[in-house]
Amino acid sequence: MITAASAGTWTLGDLTVNRIGFGAMRLTGNNGAASDRERVIGVLRRAVELGVNHIDTAAFYFSPLRSANEIINAALSPYADELVITTKVGPGRDPSGEWLPLARPDQLRGQVEENLRQLGRDHLDVVNLRQNGLESVAEHFGALADLRDAGLIRHLGLSNIRPQHLAQAQAIAPVVCVQNPYGVDTRRMHDQLVRTCGEQGVAFVPFFAIAGDGREAGGVATNEAVAAIARAHGATPAQVRIAWTLSRGPHMLAIPGTGNPDHLVENLAAGALRLSPEELAGLG
Ligand SMILES: NC(=O)c1ccc[n+]([C@@H]2O[C@H](COP(=O)([O-])OP(=O)(O)OC[C@H]3O[C@@H](n4cnc5c(N)ncnc54)[C@H](OP(=O)(O)O)[C@@H]3O)[C@@H](O)[C@H]2O)c1
Repeated sequence: MITAASAGTWTLGDLTVNRIGFGAMRLTGNNGAASDRERVIGVLRRAVELGVNHIDTAAFYFSPLRSANEIINAALSPYADELVITTKVGPGRDPSGEWLPLARPDQLRGQVEENLRQLGRDHLDVVNLRQNGLESVAEHFGALADLRDAGLIRHLGLSNIRPQHLAQAQAIAPVVCVQNPYGVDTRRMHDQLVRTCGEQGVAFVPFFAIAGDGREAGGVATNEAVAAIARAHGATPAQVRIAWTLSRGPHMLAIPGTGNPDHLVENLAAGALRLSPEELAGLG
């Protein structure tokens, strides 16, 4: 069985993770239908058995009957020492699921505490500030740096940023990861940000790497070049998409999202798929 270790490791601050991790957003359901709780608890436990030690989540990943953080807590606590859970704050939803305006800096502590309660932890390993429309992230990031100093958070990251936000945050506290949408045929305007992160030893954690422009709707984005490479390797298009993101540098961490046990195994196996220089060049 190919495990999450197949693509090697990266360090987020002082925390070592396998480069293939897991995104929790798809645990709560698909197309409006609640997920089968036992099934997705099984997916998470299998992920950890297969070496996943980096899980991405958020308190705002919930559907009417399911909460990603609650499922993680039920499946994995008491947590293994080596498990790194990354969450994100900034956006929020009211109990009915309606989106709220981006949190003010003074509201971020409450969002951090919400994650602590739901996950059943007394600190968070990595917290990303998911910005939305801010000219400067300094005030928000400064509030999170205070919570880091207070011991509630180990390491800080950024999400959904424009390139200038990275330096604004770094002027305040170290940034261990940047999480933005990115994939073989989606948001390639981030190519330079990916390189900048690599040069600075900051992890780049792409989301929608499989779904591409399908975004929240999910599924595997259609791309004939990807499909041809998949056929040549006896692999699936999802695996080629993951392998491509990992090929962009040793600082690339994959967090494929799935509620399907077979997809989980397939996604982890993508860490052992090596695309040739010609294939990579063909994908641009
Ligand atoms: N920072 C942010 O703003 C932000 C935004 C969105 C997401 N995220 C994070 O990034 C993670 C990844 O993003 P994502 O889950 O939206 O998209 P993704 O990983 O690009 O793709 C997930 C979609 O592909 C399907 N899928 C996964 N593996 C597959 C396989 N091997 N074969 C066929 N279909 C497969 C999933 O459905 P099945 O369940 O049927 O497998 C789901 O519909 C999320 O889980 C979340 O943790 C962060």
